[in-house]
Order: sequence, then structure tokens, then C-alpha cells
Amino acid sequence: PRHFAIVPAAGSGSRMGAVRPKQYLPLLGRPLIHHALSVLCASPDIDKVFVVLSVDDAEWSRHDWSTLGGKLVPLFCGGATRADSVLGGLRAISGEAAQSDWVLVHDAARPCLAPWHIDKLVRELAHDEVGGLLAVPVADTLKRADPQRHVAGTVPRDSLWQAQTPQMFRYVMLRRALQGATDVTDEASAIEAAGLRPRLVQGDATNLKVTYPLDLHLAEWILQNREG
Ligand code: CTP
Ligand code: MG
Repeated sequence: PRHFAIVPAAGSGSRMGAVRPKQYLPLLGRPLIHHALSVLCASPDIDKVFVVLSVDDAEWSRHDWSTLGGKLVPLFCGGATRADSVLGGLRAISGEAAQSDWVLVHDAARPCLAPWHIDKLVRELAHDEVGGLLAVPVADTLKRADPQRHVAGTVPRDSLWQAQTPQMFRYVMLRRALQGATDVTDEASAIEAAGLRPRLVQGDATNLKVTYPLDLHLAEWILQNREG
């Protein structure tokens, strides 16, 4: 099977509170999204990289993406939610993707994706029926709050993982799952809602999602201090 990447990049970055969507904020001299796209495009495991942009995206065309090569394809078919954007991307590539091809969905907002993250995910899931996702074990002690914000319980963390991306599933399985899902914030939850069990592949905390301004500083530090 082939491996396609779909990169949802049609969000507005409201929690970031910047003047433009966070995927276009400068990070070490390049648009933030350029970092993940360049790692995906350079990966020998990935055949093509589809970026899902907002239908009224005004920024994409202002940058030069040609150095990333011929694998990169922009799709102006973003939706109201992340899941809608991913589903739009899946529909747009229906002519190209076969039923059992793999799709790796990766947030544009995770610029510190490293080649080894992709390698490990693809290798560990290669013979899996369902697929799975990068994730890291939860480090903090977790509290459940009551409506008055008193602690109603401590959630044992030993079986809890934080979901990251890429999340890798078979094309048709993922499309069906997302079509039938409501209120999902990642692909895995749509697959779970369809009654299947995605596999957790251990990544690391460097693959953070840029959500708040602090995350941009952390991402910059991670990229600058990475070996190789
Ligand atoms: N995304 C998308 N389409 C949407 C919403 C989000 O493609 N309608 C993408 C974002 O561009 C981002 C990824 O999904 O790359 C993860 O979403 P998130 O971190 O929530 O980004 P935003 O929705 O842009 O940020 P916020 O929730 O703070 O507004
Ligand atoms: Mg969002």
C-alpha cells in the first residue's frame, strides 16, 4: 500500500490570539507549517503530502513551497472543524487513494515532527489491521473536578496517554469512520467510535502542538537544539 499524508491547516488559531492563523506565523525564518511539510515531503515512507487549506486562504500563495518538491499538493477544501477538513481532504483524493492505502493525518500546528516519529509509526503499524497514532504517557497527576471546582477524584494515570499526530489509518476505514462521527477531535476517536481499537505508538514530548504563545517558544527551542 501507499502512504499519503493529509495535513489539516484550515484552522484560525483562536487560542493563539495572533493576527494571522498560527500555521503561518514565522518560526526560525519559515512559516510554522513549512517545518512539518518539509519533514513529511522528505520522508521516503510518504508518497504524497496533501495540505488542507481554508477555502478563503489568502496566505498559502504568498510563500514559495517549490523547494519541498513534487509530493506537495494544496487542497482548498477546509471545513468548519478539524474533522471536516480531514474528511474534505479524504474526499478530494478519492481518485488517487485505494481502499487499503495508508493515510497519515498530521496537524499543521505540530512543527517539531521528526523523521524518526514517522519511521516508528509506519514500521510499528505496517502489519496492523486498524492503524494507530503517536502518543506519550501522561506525566502529571490528573484530577477530576466537580462543578464547584473541588476535586471529585484522582484519575489513575498509569493507563493514560496523550494523543499526538501523525495518526495513521487505512483510507476507506478512516473515511467511513469520520463520515459517521460527531464531535471528534482526532482520527483515532472516530475509529474508536466505529468499534475498532487503534494502537498507541510511543512518541515523545518534542512533537508538541502549538496552541498558545508559549508553545511557539518551546517549538523554537526544540528545533534549535535538535541534533543532526
Ligand atoms: N484545523 C483545520 N480545520 C479546522 C480547524 C482546525 O484544518 N476547521 C487544523 C488546524 O489548522 C491545526 C489542526 O487542525 O493544524 C489542529 O487544530 P488546532 O490546534 O485546534 O488549531 P486551530 O483550530 O487553528 O486553533 P484554535 O482551536 O485555537 O482556534
Ligand atoms: Mg481548533
